[in-house]
Amino acid sequence: MPGRAGEVSGLLLLAASGLAREVLAVPGLLQRHASVTLLDDDPARWGTEVHGHPVRGGLELAGEYPDHRLLVCVGRGAARRAVVRRLHGLGVRPDRYATVVHPDVRVPPGCRVGRGSVLLAGVVLTADVEVGEHVVVMPHATLTHDVVLEEFATVCAGVQLGGGVRVGTGAYLGMAAAVRERLVVGADAVLGMGAVLTADLPPGETWAGVPARPLRRPVEVEG
Ligand SMILES: CC(C)(COP(=O)(O)OP(=O)(O)OC[C@H]1O[C@@H](n2cnc3c(N)ncnc32)[C@H](O)[C@@H]1OP(=O)(O)O)[C@@H](O)C(=O)NCCC(=O)NCCS
Repeated sequence: MPGRAGEVSGLLLLAASGLAREVLAVPGLLQRHASVTLLDDDPARWGTEVHGHPVRGGLELAGEYPDHRLLVCVGRGAARRAVVRRLHGLGVRPDRYATVVHPDVRVPPGCRVGRGSVLLAGVVLTADVEVGEHVVVMPHATLTHDVVLEEFATVCAGVQLGGGVRVGTGAYLGMAAAVRERLVVGADAVLGMGAVLTADLPPGETWAGVPARPLRRPVEVEG
């Protein structure tokens, strides 16, 4: 759902991030919303602007925008999850979240894109793809038939997913990674950029390489 036709509510972007700027660059987004406001927990950003749109203050101000649609623009799935939980505590209902799909992206019948999710330019969904809530799919990722992206998953640019791949909640697939058909990427797992995954990736683990293997130590991803 690339925003409802005729939508005129304001849009509140949570975090003045690179992802927020990518969302602002999606054609048609500004026409669908009366205004765009950003919130960010970094006080150094308060009072600044992002591409002409004001950063008003911390995320706790979200409750002051009851007529706005919201979008969490935090690159890491675990951090997006934490923000959504915080917003829930502030009384933000799940139906308040916007869904942003670049107008070049075709969502065929039988595919579903959840609330709060972002699909950037050039993403391909072939058939019966299920994208959960608060998922981010970066440019030119390919989601083939029966792929499932669970909530808070992050799929970076150029990732290729074979048919029936399931990506668990909060998992992160680095740029240009490829995943063989029917494999499962566990919850909160990380697959390094350029990896070729040929076996299921257990929850919480970080794998990289061709073929992908566990990295020697736990890691934090940025973005
Ligand atoms: C896998 C990843 C998360 C590891 O990050 P990290 O903890 O900072 O890891 P390091 O850079 O310290 O590397 C640890 C080891 O893994 C290797 N390594 C890291 N990433 C690798 C990758 N993608 N493929 C193969 N090996 C990799 C390093 O060479 C290093 O090996 P060494 O110990 O022999 O020197 C990270 O490299 C990655 O791929 N992130 C995704 C980046 C991305 O797609 N960003 C998109 C932003 S929009």
